[in-house]
Amino acid sequence: MTFGASRVLVASNRGPVSYSVGEDGSLVAKRGGGGVVSGLSAIDADAGALWVCSALSDGDREAVRRGVGEPGTRMLDIPADVHADAYNGIANSVLWFVHHMLYQTPLEPVFDGEFRRQWASYEAYNRAFAEALAEGAAEGAAVLVQDYHLCLVPGMLRALRPDLRIGHFSHTPWAPPDYFALLPNDIRTQLLTSLLAADRLGFLTQRWADAFTACCPDGTGTTGIGIHPLGADADFLRDRADQPDVRDRIASLREEIGDGRLTIVRVDRTELSKNIVRGLLAYRHLLDTRPEWHDRVVHVAFAYPSRQDLKVYRDYMDEVQRVADEINSVYGTATWTPVLLHLKDDFARSLAAYRLADVALVNPIRDGMNLVAKEVPVVSDDGCALVLSREAGAYGELRDDAITVNPYDVLETADALHEALSMPREERAERTKRLAAAATALPPTQWFLDQLNSLTS
Ligand code: G6P
Repeated sequence: MTFGASRVLVASNRGPVSYSVGEDGSLVAKRGGGGVVSGLSAIDADAGALWVCSALSDGDREAVRRGVGEPGTRMLDIPADVHADAYNGIANSVLWFVHHMLYQTPLEPVFDGEFRRQWASYEAYNRAFAEALAEGAAEGAAVLVQDYHLCLVPGMLRALRPDLRIGHFSHTPWAPPDYFALLPNDIRTQLLTSLLAADRLGFLTQRWADAFTACCPDGTGTTGIGIHPLGADADFLRDRADQPDVRDRIASLREEIGDGRLTIVRVDRTELSKNIVRGLLAYRHLLDTRPEWHDRVVHVAFAYPSRQDLKVYRDYMDEVQRVADEINSVYGTATWTPVLLHLKDDFARSLAAYRLADVALVNPIRDGMNLVAKEVPVVSDDGCALVLSREAGAYGELRDDAITVNPYDVLETADALHEALSMPREERAERTKRLAAAATALPPTQWFLDQLNSLTS
């Protein structure tokens, strides 16, 4: 085998850029943000960094066919049906559900022939990544594999290229052993054996790392474990939040909210683990039990579409809409809309909402980190009280200055909203300053470099 030239490689399902085909047939590129993008840009150009990702859309596939691409990026055109089984079937319907403990009757898993068929696709999809990495890596290169989509890559890559330094980072929680035991025995063994073939495994919090270790019946051997709590990118966020499009959206949001009213903001993918419905029920309980807030508060809820190929996500979106409509029909007046629900993704509008929020509601039932909880304090104009789930990874760093809740407890969450809305402005501002400091302790570039350094030193 001839070795490639890259000394630092990243692998993830979703890459730094996606393409769509414009009306004139040309390809339009859309660049994504996120920690890995800024981290990788800090790597010395001489290292010949390479990012291997998957083609996710028709535009991406067309870009691969036309040989169009970002320098330093290789998009894999994995057959659409193999990708769909691996991504929708295994990664998002099984592994995501296990680590977020989302199964509930009647949605419990059935590990049957169909599951085995999809698992074979997950293996094929992981193998395509392992082969591309093996081909692109220079001798002794460092490879950082990202997330639950690619759990089988470390083991496969180790077999192909024993010389490489291999890391894997989990952006999700890790399931406790009793829950992980839902998976068939051989699948559990396959996942753990592959991950333990890495030199280092990274997690967002000690809690998730401990859960992983507890799932390993024979211990973690020589594989190192690192805790890297990804923080918010203050420079990027503050600069972006000061752009004219964000200022325009602040003006239009203020108009929608109405003068003199307080604002409770939430921004999420419409994702089962984000617990949007219980958040709305808590707000409803606040209005049911504390009429003094009628006409004085608006709940701005941005619930952006996610994983819409899965019926359970589409149904969840409908449920969010239904509960929001119900609150508005019970309490709304000609001049007051209690819930402003927006379902179309708009990053500039999210930042506008962050800036003007009086209260941020972040109540996931389980979350690897939750960056919204870290981003709001960084860009807040006048200080924002944070209502935060004790099941979010961010709880570890933000607990002292947040009002924390059990995400299942709607009444506790309603009380927390009341306390947050009632917080004096000076206290809010003081807490927000401390939250912003904690939230930016490990900026994305440093987060990435720390992982790389611990892999190569
Ligand atoms: C989580 C995962 C990421 C994923 C993101 C968006 O944060 O840890 O790996 O990219 O959700 O989900 P999607 O399925 O749209 O990539």
